[in-house]
Amino acid sequence: MLAGVSDIAIHIPKYYLPHEELAKARGVPKEKFHTGLGNRNMAIIPNWEDAVTMGANAAVQLLERNNINPDEVRQLVVSTESGVDHSKPVASFVQGLLNIGTRCRVYEIKHACYGGTAGLIDSIEWISRHNNSEPKGIVIMTDIAKYGFGTLGEPTQGAGALALLVEAKPRLFSLDTMLNGIYSKDVHDFWRPTGHRVPIVDGKYSINCYLTALEGAVSHFRENSGIKEGELLDNLDYLIYHMPFTNMARKAHRHLVEIENKGALPERIEEIFEESFERMVVPSLRGVQEVGNIYTGSVYMGLASLLESEREKVEKKKVGLFSYGSGCGAEFFQCEIKSGISSIVDAIGMNEQLENRKKLTFEQYVQFYSKSDQEILYHPEELTGYKDKFTRFVFTGFQGHKRQYA
Ligand code: CAA
Repeated sequence: MLAGVSDIAIHIPKYYLPHEELAKARGVPKEKFHTGLGNRNMAIIPNWEDAVTMGANAAVQLLERNNINPDEVRQLVVSTESGVDHSKPVASFVQGLLNIGTRCRVYEIKHACYGGTAGLIDSIEWISRHNNSEPKGIVIMTDIAKYGFGTLGEPTQGAGALALLVEAKPRLFSLDTMLNGIYSKDVHDFWRPTGHRVPIVDGKYSINCYLTALEGAVSHFRENSGIKEGELLDNLDYLIYHMPFTNMARKAHRHLVEIENKGALPERIEEIFEESFERMVVPSLRGVQEVGNIYTGSVYMGLASLLESEREKVEKKKVGLFSYGSGCGAEFFQCEIKSGISSIVDAIGMNEQLENRKKLTFEQYVQFYSKSDQEILYHPEELTGYKDKFTRFVFTGFQGHKRQYA
């Protein structure tokens, strides 16, 4: 199935907390967060934004940039683990905000951080069956990664959304889903029981589950694509990993180099790792360093980072992607970047959004994350300044039990 993606858009909240401030307040050396986790800043979401507004703010960019009439969108999938209702999908709220017509299949997908990839692969396979009529699909990955105050997961927090435009004749990248390598298993590494605001995490175990899933998915991908053990890195130009924190990509890549070079001397493994990490993985790291974990969108924020940092250098290149979701489900797949992508890359605006954020103090961060959904923080003047080309929609509160947006 060789359909793919024609455009990618991102929405990043306008507030952030530097890890240096968090380290000071928690009495931890800042090197633990900077060097140990590899993170610099984390996105903080005010409670006039949620999974709906972030997703709609990302997707509206796709409609406008590509002059798409909302009625042309025939499938709208929202992947999230930050849903706002047990029954009504985030996708329906987004459909309303974007004025998408009634002949559209609209649904929400959940499988922890893997849900974004499940939505993308499903949409690509759906569109592959429609070669003649050229419908359009939009896949949104939108999440708020919020952990408990003072927990070990706290420095890995983040929030943000990505939206991908899926078409039968893609302009950004194509993807042959028949090659994809799958791994899934019933484990309890990270979960959020119904009613809990923050997840329960078995942190070290979750890293082991991630690495086991990487090994399983890569082995299946090799089988499907006929690539022999030891030849995977030579068959790809870049690699993007799911990144709950930046150094997870280092751990994952080291593990991949080890399984690809079984029997090699440790010094040789180290040499291959350092060279290939710098060349193949580092260009995808800027987003996670600045934003933190965004669960479903993590891999795709890595893709936006790669596109903005390498620009035309990625044209006609093969990118390997590893998507992992706790619980757990994982997929290793490759996409092939098209030529002539510079205008698509120019419009992403991830760096522009990062540069225009407002720094919070530790006390403001605590205030933001102590409020409930019912206590909206904004002052009307602040909202006026909040609106720009990357932010159109805000959550304004409840009418009865109905969420209201403007
Ligand atoms: N200077 C430099 N480095 C330091 C340091 C210092 N002063 N102090 C500690 N470090 C290093 C440690 O050596 C360690 O590095 P290595 O991993 O390379 O050994 C690193 O900083 C982290 O320190 P700890 O090992 O002490 O780890 P921790 O107990 O603080 O927990 C964590 C780390 C498990 C990632 C925790 O943040 C957590 O639970 N995070 C949430 C779960 C998560 O992200 N899991 C990832 C896989 S699951 C997944 O991917 C799904 C998902 O999105 C959630």
